[in-house]
Amino acid sequence: MKPIPGASRRLTRRIAALAALAFAVALTLPLTAFAATAAGASGAGRTGAASTAASSSCPWLNQSLPVDQRVQMLLAQMSLADKINMVTGAGFSEPYVFYISAIPSLCIPAIGEEDGPVGVGDGLTGVTQMPSAVSLAATFDPSLATQYGQVVGSEERGKGAMVDLGPTVNVDRDPRWGRSFEAYTEDPFLNSAIAVADINGVQSQDEMAQVKHLAVYNQETNRNTPADNAIVSTRALHEIYLPAFWAATQEAKASSVMCAYSTINGQAACQNDYLMKTTLDQRWGYPGFVTSDYQATHSTVQSANAGMDQEMPAPQYYGSALQSAVQSGQVSMATLNDMVSRILTEMFQFNEFNNPPTGSTSTTVTTPAHQDVSTAVAEAGTVLLKNTGGTLPLSANGAGTVAVIGPSASLSPTDTGGGSAYVTSTFNVTPLQGIQAAAGPGTTVQYTQGLPTDTSLTPIPTSNLTPAYTGTNYGQTYTGTLTASETGTYVLAFKNPGSYTATNLSLDGKVILANPGTPPVSTYSVGVDLQAGQKYTLQLSGGGPSANLSWATPSELTTAIGQAVAAAKSASTAVVVVSDDTESEAADRASLNLPSAQNELISAVAAANPHTVVVVDAGAPVVMPWLNQVASVVDAWYPGESNGTALAAVLFGKVNPSGHLPVTFPTDLSQVPASSPSQFPGVNGQVQYSEGINVGYRHYDASNQTPLFPFGYGLSYTNFRFSGLSISPKSLQNASSNPGATSCGCNGQSGNLVTVSATVTNTGQVAGSDVAQLYLADPAAAGEPPRQLEGFQKVTLQPGQSTTVHFSLPGHDLSYWNDAANGWVVPDGQFGVYVGDSSAPANLPLRGAFTVVRSVGARYATINAPAEALPAETAVKGV
Ligand code: BGC
Repeated sequence: MKPIPGASRRLTRRIAALAALAFAVALTLPLTAFAATAAGASGAGRTGAASTAASSSCPWLNQSLPVDQRVQMLLAQMSLADKINMVTGAGFSEPYVFYISAIPSLCIPAIGEEDGPVGVGDGLTGVTQMPSAVSLAATFDPSLATQYGQVVGSEERGKGAMVDLGPTVNVDRDPRWGRSFEAYTEDPFLNSAIAVADINGVQSQDEMAQVKHLAVYNQETNRNTPADNAIVSTRALHEIYLPAFWAATQEAKASSVMCAYSTINGQAACQNDYLMKTTLDQRWGYPGFVTSDYQATHSTVQSANAGMDQEMPAPQYYGSALQSAVQSGQVSMATLNDMVSRILTEMFQFNEFNNPPTGSTSTTVTTPAHQDVSTAVAEAGTVLLKNTGGTLPLSANGAGTVAVIGPSASLSPTDTGGGSAYVTSTFNVTPLQGIQAAAGPGTTVQYTQGLPTDTSLTPIPTSNLTPAYTGTNYGQTYTGTLTASETGTYVLAFKNPGSYTATNLSLDGKVILANPGTPPVSTYSVGVDLQAGQKYTLQLSGGGPSANLSWATPSELTTAIGQAVAAAKSASTAVVVVSDDTESEAADRASLNLPSAQNELISAVAAANPHTVVVVDAGAPVVMPWLNQVASVVDAWYPGESNGTALAAVLFGKVNPSGHLPVTFPTDLSQVPASSPSQFPGVNGQVQYSEGINVGYRHYDASNQTPLFPFGYGLSYTNFRFSGLSISPKSLQNASSNPGATSCGCNGQSGNLVTVSATVTNTGQVAGSDVAQLYLADPAAAGEPPRQLEGFQKVTLQPGQSTTVHFSLPGHDLSYWNDAANGWVVPDGQFGVYVGDSSAPANLPLRGAFTVVRSVGARYATINAPAEALPAETAVKGV
């Protein structure tokens, strides 16, 4: 596939900006503010490199002074225009996607903020394309996450960006979310652990991490419009959607937070009092700054007063509008000072005044060491989902003929997802190249495409489509009548180059594809079954003059698939590489199906060869109607630039797979937690988060549903046994209630209360790694889901070797969000303890319990607490 070159990056974003603006204007936004120039309110002459003025003229450069003092000294010298400059993005034409101009006279360096969560994005080149974030989470390995963050942080800084716009810690509420690949997981505990490790890595490179997007941003449909209005309970907020933000800001001390496109309980995220003021500021005491997502600011006064510190990317509501609001007293100078202070505080903390980044956007920052980390994460994140009859690993020498099949194996590999998290690679190892390079003597590798590539499909002839499709004006809808000449599977596709708005393809009124045209993909395809002679209504909406429609007929597909079947028949093993290249920011997936006719290809190959291995390159779950027909399934996520190298290492057993699923794979969409339209993507301007805290495996467990593959699941080429569960103490007094406590750094409940230990033994023939997982079942009165992850540890063991894993359970891990207490409460009663290597009961062989008894100590009592009580005002009462 052809990534859109860096030069078009700004054009792409500008189209998006204009589209968003057009939409916004139609809703609520005043147009005038948008006309402000890139120079912002502080006027010309503010751009440029950091000043190196002597500290005599800028005494706040004196590093021996406390940060607070330096902030106050500088603040005292800043004019109103200077302050406005610090809180307003400089515009659309700056070197970094978000940019604050320097103020040389005050020795304030420029702030470049660049995407993103999975490597340096926004079309910049000379960087390392990392595996998707979901792949990182699948490693269940915080130490790898730190290395990952180090690569991203070092490359962002090397590019001259002071702030890395990442990681993305939004919860994978639904597998259709277009950005699932750039987020980690559906589980708040894993989310927090990986986020902390990743951010620690980024910030170890003196790079500020901007954790995003606060909060409840879980879908692209209707994004940045009031219709993405999440109606969500306070409890779900604190238990599911906010924990990773708490961990990122409190444990990893992320410099900044990006507020989201979503609206939460009727208030847009970037002016949401509950999220920014009540929670981030007052409850958590967060000292860092909040930046708006790209045009996610929707007001001047409300946003500033809620604690939104930086509008990006251009002055619309801040800039001159904020300046006027301060002058008229609608926003107090004290508020503006707070906003600026939060930004300056982090800049001093990260020593950006004395040591700003020196690189530029053209600096080459990828290194062999960085590329090795990318490969290591891709390998460790790969999940072996099925492996019957020891089909894998293949022997590198003497495996006979390996038929490698599929466009994704060679001609159009899918290494990463689209949108702002898209990273331009300097090289890519295709699956075929990787397998060829790893195959030794006695192993012959043959390649068959098996399907046409999406970009090679042909226009739908006028004999089949009337009126002829010739493009439309931007945003308009084409409607035609499609008549099938044959009965069977067709591939329908559209091309929609470079935009951040969704284009929808519908057949008889049902959306079958909903995609943007963001890099790296511009052509999207879907397989559909049609009847000869039948007429269908085909619609393409949201396209433009250069969008096109194309297809492949059943005859064409049968020919291509037939070649793959022939190759598979004469091979010892068939490896079919399939991918979902439709995942991107700006649109949600219309279904969980693999695009094109890849399902048909797999079934046909599996019928021809019992040793069929399916490799899935996708950033999120796909449905697998062929699962029972194939011998093995490997999920490699979006593996990044080392795709083929990592895959071959797993297939040939050089690396024993050890990835575990950070998301549940449903059998189909009827199973997912948000399966009704009112839940996803919402109806009548509201998205009902009515599943509450039953997100991910919590939902499957609570509703007794067996998914295709459970959260936490992953196979190995060896086997593991769990034994020797030990829980200490078995009984403890509930004496730790302090629902709102934050000063302890414990999010409400402190102290290590319980320790759980278990022994893991490698009972197989080869060395391997497993992920020991601890789940707790709260006392029924807490109203929690059946089980929740509260600990995990990855262990690597030689054949026959055992090790003991220890899990410490601090008070917070035992507590739940109690609305009446306006905070975290440890419930009394019996806690079930489950240890094993997935969330499914069948994989949790060790069972035990401990009891929390109510006796002496601080208690909570149910009284009428104010809905937005401050931590100091919580309903905690000693008895
Ligand atoms: C995305 C952010 C990104 C920003 C800047 C937005 O569209 O939602 O994640 O950081 O653009 O590119």
